[in-house]
Amino acid sequence: MPYNAGLMYAFQPQGNELTCDGVALSAIAASVGTPTYVYSAATLRERIAALHAAFGDYPHALHYALKANSNLAVVRVVRAAGGLVDANSGGEIEVALRAGCTPADIVFTGVGKTPAEIDRAVALGVKTINAESAGELERIAAAARARGSVARVALRVNPDIASESHPHISTGLGTHKFGVPITEARAIARDAGARPELKFVGVHVHIGSQMLGLEPLRRAATAVVGLAQELRDDGVHVEHLDLGGGLGIAYDGETVPPADSYAAALVTIVRPSGLTLIVEPGRAVAGPAGALLASVVDIKPRGDGTQFVVLDAGMSELLRPALYGAYHRIEAVTARDGAPVTCDVVGPICESSDVFGVNRSLPAPAVGTVLAVLDAGAYGSAMSSNYNRHALPAEVMVDEGAWRVVRRRQTIAEQLVCEE
Ligand code: LLP
Repeated sequence: MPYNAGLMYAFQPQGNELTCDGVALSAIAASVGTPTYVYSAATLRERIAALHAAFGDYPHALHYALKANSNLAVVRVVRAAGGLVDANSGGEIEVALRAGCTPADIVFTGVGKTPAEIDRAVALGVKTINAESAGELERIAAAARARGSVARVALRVNPDIASESHPHISTGLGTHKFGVPITEARAIARDAGARPELKFVGVHVHIGSQMLGLEPLRRAATAVVGLAQELRDDGVHVEHLDLGGGLGIAYDGETVPPADSYAAALVTIVRPSGLTLIVEPGRAVAGPAGALLASVVDIKPRGDGTQFVVLDAGMSELLRPALYGAYHRIEAVTARDGAPVTCDVVGPICESSDVFGVNRSLPAPAVGTVLAVLDAGAYGSAMSSNYNRHALPAEVMVDEGAWRVVRRRQTIAEQLVCEE
C-alpha cells in the first residue's frame, strides 16, 4: 500500500473525474467555487476506527488533536466515531463543546495557557489539563482553589528526544519550549500530587509531528513509563500516559507505519505499567481525509520552456508548502487531453514562498482548470488566514454519496466586521 498504510483513499478517479468517495470534485467546484476544502467523512471514521482497532482491548483513549482541523462538522464526525479531543486553546475547547463533546472528553494542552483559559478549563472540569510548567501547575491550583474545586492535571515532559521530523514540527528536544525537562519532572509531579486542589493523573509527552519512524515514539514512551514508575514509587497517583500525536502520513509515497504497528509499538512499552494509554492523533486522522480545490487563474511561460501555473489559492489557504517546504500531490479534477507540461504550481500571494509545487507535471492546464491539492485535511484550513485579504475558504463534507457545505466562504464584510 504505497500511499495509505492499508486504508482506503477517498480521492480516486472514476472515469474522467477525480472523486471524493464517488462524488465528482468538479461538481463541487462548479457549485461552491474555489478555493474549497473537501473532506471525506468515511475517511475520518475509518481512521478513527483503525486506531481503535489497533489498540484493541488495551485500555486507551483517542483524543483527536483539534489543531489539525476543528471544523465543527469534522469534529462531530470524529466524536461520533468514538474520538475524544485534545484542545490546544480556549477557542478549541469551545469548538469541542459546540460539537457535542463533554468536558470529560477533553484534554487541554498548550504552551502558554492564559489565566482565562485555565479558569475556563477548571470551571468545566475537563478530563485533564496537561500542564507545561511548575508555574502553570500553581496557576491551575490557584484557579481550582478559587472555585473550591479540584483540577485533574498531567505534566507534560520534554524527554530530549529527536523526532527525526521537520525541525519546525519537532517538539521533544531540550532546546524546545515544550514541557518540563524530564529530569525535573519527578520533583514537580510530586509537588503537584501533594496539592489538595490538584488531582495528579498522568504524564504527557509529544515529541513531534509527521513522524515516519516508530523509534522516537518508542523512546519517548519508554521515558515516560520510567517516570511513571518513579512517581508511583514516590506514592504519586498515576492513571494514564498521554503519548501525544505524531504519526505521519504518506504525502509523497513514503512508507508510513500502519496503525497496527504504531499501536503495538506503544502498547508493548506501556503494558507492563497497566496504565491507560492516551494518544492525540491529528494528521493521521484528518490529513488524507481532505483536499483543497483551486482553479488556475493564469499560466505564464518561463524562459526555460516550463510554466508557472497560478492558482486562486495560495499560502493563505494552505500554508504548509511555504512554511515547511511540504510536499502535496496536485491533480486535475477532470482528466484533460493534451501533453503534460512541466510547471511550478504557485499561489497568487505576494511572496516568493507562495509555491504549492515545483517541477510538477500536469496534463495541459488552462485557465479555469480545477486542481486538487491532496492530503490537505490536516493543518490546511486550520492554518488558513486572511493574508492579502483572502476569504477563509469554503469547506465541504462528503458523506455517503452526498455532499454539503460545512463552512461557507467568508465574505469581505465578515472580514471587516471587527474593524472600525
Ligand atoms: N498533541 C500535541 C500536544 C501537539 O502539539 C500536536 C501537534 C498533536 C498532538 C497532533 O500531532 P499530529 O498527530 O497531527 O502529528 N502545522 C504542522 C503540524 C504542527 C503540529 C503541532 N502539534 C504541519 O502542518 O505539519
